[in-house]
Amino acid sequence: MSEYTILKNESDLDSESKALLEKAKAALPNAYAPYSNFRVAAAILLNDGTVVTGTNQENAAYPSGMCAERVALFTVSSQHAGKTITKIVVIARLGNENALAPATSCGGCRQVMLEFEERQRVPFEVVMQSHDHQWVKTASAKTLLPFCFSNESLRVRK
Ligand code: THU
Repeated sequence: MSEYTILKNESDLDSESKALLEKAKAALPNAYAPYSNFRVAAAILLNDGTVVTGTNQENAAYPSGMCAERVALFTVSSQHAGKTITKIVVIARLGNENALAPATSCGGCRQVMLEFEERQRVPFEVVMQSHDHQWVKTASAKTLLPFCFSNESLRVRK
């Protein structure tokens, strides 16, 4: 079994991912990206059917801004503690372009996804638009971080 699947078009996504994609598209206008003009939205599906969205929030002091994925993930842990994430869909739009832009999550967001996955002890699917309007789908966030650093790395060995 391959660790990820490439889907050629949006129409090839499963119906659950398509529904999350629509939620992410609806959230996209809430992105605050006056500096990069790159709007990002993430839609997270929880095990009870709840959908939590997040968008990137920039700041004049650039590092004080936050990526969409982390806004969404931290909302889950803050407002839906104890629920399990089953899937996250990430999309982006550059300026006023009609087509979605590639939204392959940054390393920091992949690291935070990994922590959430290890915390809940259940992997979740990650769906992101890659180049050429293709979509990449993984069964686990861990796939996105080979040779990762995680809580295991901090365990003292005797
Ligand atoms: N951004 C995200 O929201 N998620 C990512 O995974 C990559 C980058 C945001 C941060 C910043 O507001 C803008 O995209 C440009 O880097």
